[in-house]
Amino acid sequence: MKQATLSLDPAFAIGPIDPRVRGSFVEHLGRCVYGGIYEPDHPDADPDGFRTDVLDLTRELGVTTVRYPGGNFVSGYTWEDAIGPKDKRPRRLDLAWKTIETNAVGVDEFAAWCRKAGVEPMMAVNLGTRGVDAATALVEYCNHPSGSYWSDLRVSHGAKDPHNIKVWCLGNEMDGPWQIAHKNARDYGILAQQTAHAMRLVDPDLELVACGSSSRRMPTFGSWEAEVLEHTYGVVDYVSLHSYYRPKDGDFASFLASGVDMDAMIESVIATCDYVKAKVRSKKTINLSYDEWNVWYHERGDEREWVEAPALYQDEYSLADAVVVGSLLNSLLRRADRVSMACFAQLVNVIAPITTENGGPAWRQSTFYPMKYAFSYGVGHTLRVEPSGPVVETAEYGAVPQLDCTATLDGETGDVAIFAVNRSLTEPLGVVADVRALGSGSADSGVRPVAHVALHGPDRDATNTRDNARVVPQELPVPVVDGGELRVELPPMSWNMIRLSTPAA
Ligand code: AHR
Repeated sequence: MKQATLSLDPAFAIGPIDPRVRGSFVEHLGRCVYGGIYEPDHPDADPDGFRTDVLDLTRELGVTTVRYPGGNFVSGYTWEDAIGPKDKRPRRLDLAWKTIETNAVGVDEFAAWCRKAGVEPMMAVNLGTRGVDAATALVEYCNHPSGSYWSDLRVSHGAKDPHNIKVWCLGNEMDGPWQIAHKNARDYGILAQQTAHAMRLVDPDLELVACGSSSRRMPTFGSWEAEVLEHTYGVVDYVSLHSYYRPKDGDFASFLASGVDMDAMIESVIATCDYVKAKVRSKKTINLSYDEWNVWYHERGDEREWVEAPALYQDEYSLADAVVVGSLLNSLLRRADRVSMACFAQLVNVIAPITTENGGPAWRQSTFYPMKYAFSYGVGHTLRVEPSGPVVETAEYGAVPQLDCTATLDGETGDVAIFAVNRSLTEPLGVVADVRALGSGSADSGVRPVAHVALHGPDRDATNTRDNARVVPQELPVPVVDGGELRVELPPMSWNMIRLSTPAA
């Protein structure tokens, strides 16, 4: 069996992990809102119409932050349609997804859902068809205590306390020609700068995200970030990144290496942010908000009638998809020093780890599990692990390391979690980790193995359905730590979490 090696040392901490990397996304798209988080006629709905089974699964997943209301949807959205008495709210054509929007859920309902789910809202403003005025009014409605037109309107709608939404996205994917009122980098940069400036006049404590690129494959990738940041550097805190992956033409070797693309996008955007920092002579560092990421199979298409909440993009995720999602989580944790926020897209029904039936049950897709484990145990600081070992040949990325690995150390408990993906479709992989520095530094270092949990199996296409959960984490034999070395075997095409207890607290 081939073997990879790495070292774990608390002295090589990359950075503290911001809890907001454990984020998700709820968009008015398909059945994410209606039939997903909200279904007043469902037997498990609470008095506000929210599905309690989805709330329970959201809490189980360990999500901290949820982005809302879009996505492409936000670029044509009139948020004022969805406040106040529900029977007065207009039905609108949502042009982004060719859907009838009833507006039964708006910002007040979403803020209430967030409180129940125990998550922080992350709000996007419409910089497609709208601009400064609508954005500042929304901030006033959400965050101003009272005594002004919009804040008093919120109070009159039953929300006495402000929603206090801290993180705001300045539009969505404005680099994309599919976006309603898509703009070039200069026009978007100027509008984002003006909007950010005005939003901060309403609430100086906001944290603002400028739109970056919709993917690394966009022809404007790089130049878009540079030009937008040259306009906005002084008024924003983060720039966004989006990526979706799928196997192309059955090329699973490249698909399993999708994290290589995500790593490259992260490194490029960090470099661009720092280039602009130098150019505008700023002391401030712009960090990254990877606020849409996932595996996504479906192609976009509009050939349907205008209906409410159509079943769009309800991907059924496989074992291979879950392994890739685990690898993408490694990429996000790997640059904990610069990736401050991340949202897997989306939370429920639409390319999601949670699936529901209208009037029926909710269940966990395969991709639920790497997120749940990374969110529970990938806390504290990321450690630089510097693995070396065999490579796998891929058509898309060339030779890539067979082992994709990151590790975290919880400084309060001394608990270490190693997240490891074996990218070979057919071969197991041995891993030897030098763990002496986590303990006393000697061979009997006080480091104890706790668990090895893995997603693996003979059928890479296995999925979870309503009645049959075929992809669930398996407990493997607890690995051995001997002579200051951890030795563990990773099954072919697998996602793994190995936990250690250490005296490093
Ligand atoms: O998450 C689905 C869609 O993907 C979002 O609306 C858009 O921002 C992206 O293209």
